[in-house]
Amino acid sequence: MSHPRKGCCNNNFAAAHNNNPYHNKDNNYAAAPGKGSCITLNQADKNFHNVACLAQHTHFVVHKKRRLKKPLPKKRFLQKKNHSLSTPNKSRGAQDMGYFAKINALTLRNFKKMSLLQKQTPALQDERLMAYALRLAAKHLGATAPNPVVGCVIALDGEIISTGVTAKGGRPHAEKIAIDKITDKKILKNATLYVTLEPCSHFGQTAPCVDEIIKNSFKKVVIAAQDSDSRVNGEGIKKLREASIDVVLGVLEKEAREINRGFFCTKEKGRPFVTLKLATSLDGKIATQNFDSKWITSKKARDFAHHLRAINDAILVGANTVRRDDPSLDCRIPGLEDFSPKRIVLTQKNDLNLSAKIFQNQEKSETIILSGEKIDLLEALKNLAQRGINSLLVEGGQKTATEFLKENLVDELVWIQNKKIIGSDGISAIGDLGFTSIDQALTGFAQVDVRNLEEDIITTYRKL
Ligand SMILES: NC(=O)c1ccc[n+]([C@@H]2O[C@H](COP(=O)([O-])OP(=O)(O)OC[C@H]3O[C@@H](n4cnc5c(N)ncnc54)[C@H](OP(=O)(O)O)[C@@H]3O)[C@@H](O)[C@H]2O)c1
Repeated sequence: MSHPRKGCCNNNFAAAHNNNPYHNKDNNYAAAPGKGSCITLNQADKNFHNVACLAQHTHFVVHKKRRLKKPLPKKRFLQKKNHSLSTPNKSRGAQDMGYFAKINALTLRNFKKMSLLQKQTPALQDERLMAYALRLAAKHLGATAPNPVVGCVIALDGEIISTGVTAKGGRPHAEKIAIDKITDKKILKNATLYVTLEPCSHFGQTAPCVDEIIKNSFKKVVIAAQDSDSRVNGEGIKKLREASIDVVLGVLEKEAREINRGFFCTKEKGRPFVTLKLATSLDGKIATQNFDSKWITSKKARDFAHHLRAINDAILVGANTVRRDDPSLDCRIPGLEDFSPKRIVLTQKNDLNLSAKIFQNQEKSETIILSGEKIDLLEALKNLAQRGINSLLVEGGQKTATEFLKENLVDELVWIQNKKIIGSDGISAIGDLGFTSIDQALTGFAQVDVRNLEEDIITTYRKL
């Protein structure tokens, strides 16, 4: 249906619900007996008013399996034996694919570099310890929104004496955790603090981390990336320098921005970082002509997709996917079941049945219904960012994927391609874009990663 303007209106919203047995008089999805409730966000309300409150849900911690062939001996991290530190080695668990692999590779690369050069220059030592801090941060990726995930290492004469990672839910901050672990604070005046993001300088729900660092008179602070939050944005660095602390900025900056790409995207563009995931046959179909899409890809590829769910703050699908597939949209990697992202559904008709699986387990992860006629996706994303969602995984189907591409709102494209061939009567992953010449084809993505998983090839593209 063509509409003269984008966005939805309250009248349509209300009318669409008159026949919905699960709808209460306020036009909200009401809790059906034995079912969870959900939040309905009407785009007419610019603040995405929360009309049906839910129990808060906490996000998940992503544990990762090391990709290193042999575990690195602990003494590479800790030269003194009696330090009791929480190292990333302790938290093995689920699958290690995608981003964690990059961080692990990064760490390995830095260790290799170190062993080649027997003498550790200060710059290499800074890189080595920052790589470790990044690896710590990766542990809680997907668990700290709306706050960034930060890793911190405190070292004395090149030896790690304490570590911290932003706690689940975003607080306490990594620096505070690492500092609090040290009982004899006097030693800190000779210590160096490595942190993957500029320490905060403002009073939020906690006191500024820079004050804590200054109070303990650290000798040196090494920072990977400056914080783009307007409340910090260089202010933390300035305060540290004013307190005569030696500050080194930009060590492994690219990697630090990568791990917090959702946070940086929200701060710099006002909307979450969007990953579009497509699982297709070899000939690019997401389903057969009668909408059967189970299981196009292999078990390993589906685990990979669940891993993507785990590291994103929210997952979004179009209403037809809910109607046809009845997906749970949760993370079912063993050990991570309780840490699924928020679930978001786009709908015009707003007639979803509350017996659908997305309305179950609301106490673990809430469901947000974005309803309205031809919802303006950029506006919707901005509102989701205001609700603390920094990273969004779009899982289709065809109409939804096509709209995100048309609106140029895809930052990363993850294409999982199986060897099955479905044929031209199947449903294409991407719908009509209306191009008549090759010159018009979308070319704005660069291939950044390709991996083979048994029957599937997973290719990741990034917006140029
Ligand atoms: N293999 C895969 O990776 C994969 C992933 C997901 C889905 N699928 C398959 O994809 C098929 C469904 O795809 P589909 O293209 O039919 O539908 P879809 O994209 O899942 O859903 C389309 C619906 O979403 C709503 N919608 C989308 N954009 C909107 C906007 N801007 N404003 C308001 N509402 C909006 C509309 O809901 P209303 O209908 O309420 O108006 C629209 O009809 C299923 O067969 C499923 O199995 C495959």
